[in-house]
Amino acid sequence: MRKKVKGNVSWVGYIDWELETFHGDDYSILNGSSQNAYLIEEEKTVLIDTVWTPHRFDFVENLKKEIDLKKIDFIVANHGECDHSGSLTALMDEIPDTPIYCTSQCVKSIEGQYGKRGWNFKVVKTGDSVEIGNGKKLVFVEMKMLHWPDSMATYMTGDNILFSNDAFGQHFAVEELFNDKADQCLLYKEAIKYFTNILNPFAAILSKKLDEIAGLNLTFDIIAPSHGAIWRDNPMQIVKKYAEWAAAYQENQITVAYDTMWEGTTKIAHRIAEEIHRQSPDTVVKVFNIAKADKNEIMTEVFKSKAIVVGSPTVSNSILSSVAGWLEFLKQLKFKNKKAAAFGCYGWSGESVRILQEKLRDAGFEVIDENIRVMWNPEESDLEKVPELVSSLIGSTNDNGDKETTATAMSKYQCGPCGYIYDPAKGDPDSGIAPGTPFESLPDDWCCPVCGVSKDMFNIMK
Ligand code: FEO
Repeated sequence: MRKKVKGNVSWVGYIDWELETFHGDDYSILNGSSQNAYLIEEEKTVLIDTVWTPHRFDFVENLKKEIDLKKIDFIVANHGECDHSGSLTALMDEIPDTPIYCTSQCVKSIEGQYGKRGWNFKVVKTGDSVEIGNGKKLVFVEMKMLHWPDSMATYMTGDNILFSNDAFGQHFAVEELFNDKADQCLLYKEAIKYFTNILNPFAAILSKKLDEIAGLNLTFDIIAPSHGAIWRDNPMQIVKKYAEWAAAYQENQITVAYDTMWEGTTKIAHRIAEEIHRQSPDTVVKVFNIAKADKNEIMTEVFKSKAIVVGSPTVSNSILSSVAGWLEFLKQLKFKNKKAAAFGCYGWSGESVRILQEKLRDAGFEVIDENIRVMWNPEESDLEKVPELVSSLIGSTNDNGDKETTATAMSKYQCGPCGYIYDPAKGDPDSGIAPGTPFESLPDDWCCPVCGVSKDMFNIMK
């Protein structure tokens, strides 16, 4: 069933009340979600995005109840991930010649997933537009690596609607569609969780993109993402929040995350939490057992924190597998400007604290030297160092601990958003860059061959 968004624009998506996980099982869904698709009926009829593959037949049948599919002049595919492109196969079986407007990377993504089916792709880039009649047009804005190389937003003039795709979304089911109808606490809880777990790795690129969009001097009456509530009441509120979140966000919070075998490490975790509160009553303290709590929810709390304290006992000369997996996810999310400390119990060899410190450093945290490393179960005397650890953690402002790395002609550089490594010894022959070309000598318009972002998104490798 369609729902009116504004003027001749309707929502024709799928509200997923039963969804429990997303991206496989990597993202927990606690309050439902939606895949938002939109139908524009001006002089031209345009479909913006579709819904996830399992719902493709329902999507097409429901769309048929709203319009004659042959009336669709073209489709816009803002993003090739299957939660938005997954109904194209069923839809294109009905209208095989209909043009699909998307980026060149999106063609690769769609053909990579569904095979080359001879669809009529119309490749667009930032600033390209197409008239849709009644004096209105659609303007395309590439959103490379927000969060895939193919991501794009589409702006509709006249009604001033930004179809932002994944950006500004939430995994949150809102039957009434709009942000002003949603539970405001849940809306922001889900928006920040979505940002933390999906977009934070690309925060640097997002800050630039927000500046670029601001420079276009567009008016946004509505921001219509591809998941969750549509922002129609003060839509700029979520843009302002994104600007804050993308700038190494932190609140006055410290999160303690650990797992334990026989409760010794739990005892240290709780003592650290009590000491943080004792030394700094205004600091919010949250404690999570990594094995028992939802990892996406913990990461959201880490995102809000200025520091974290991570604990694991030593097991088989290493750390608990629950903590190891959690730390791998922590690294992926590329948090900035946060301090960290480590703690853990052991019975004999006792490597866990050193391993935790190394992994936290590798994940981009400024790791303090102070730690709590306790043989067998903690006695009061073992916990005497807790105040010193806490005082160091809350004491000084972070400088992120980054040390300058001096560039040489053969220094390798890594693309921040996608991880591609430019190696001067190999060059980039596909882009006409000969082996032996230093990164500094690359032309200004050279782009990452994997995700397409510009040179300034690369970092020298240490
Ligand atoms: Fe909602 Fe990147 O797909």
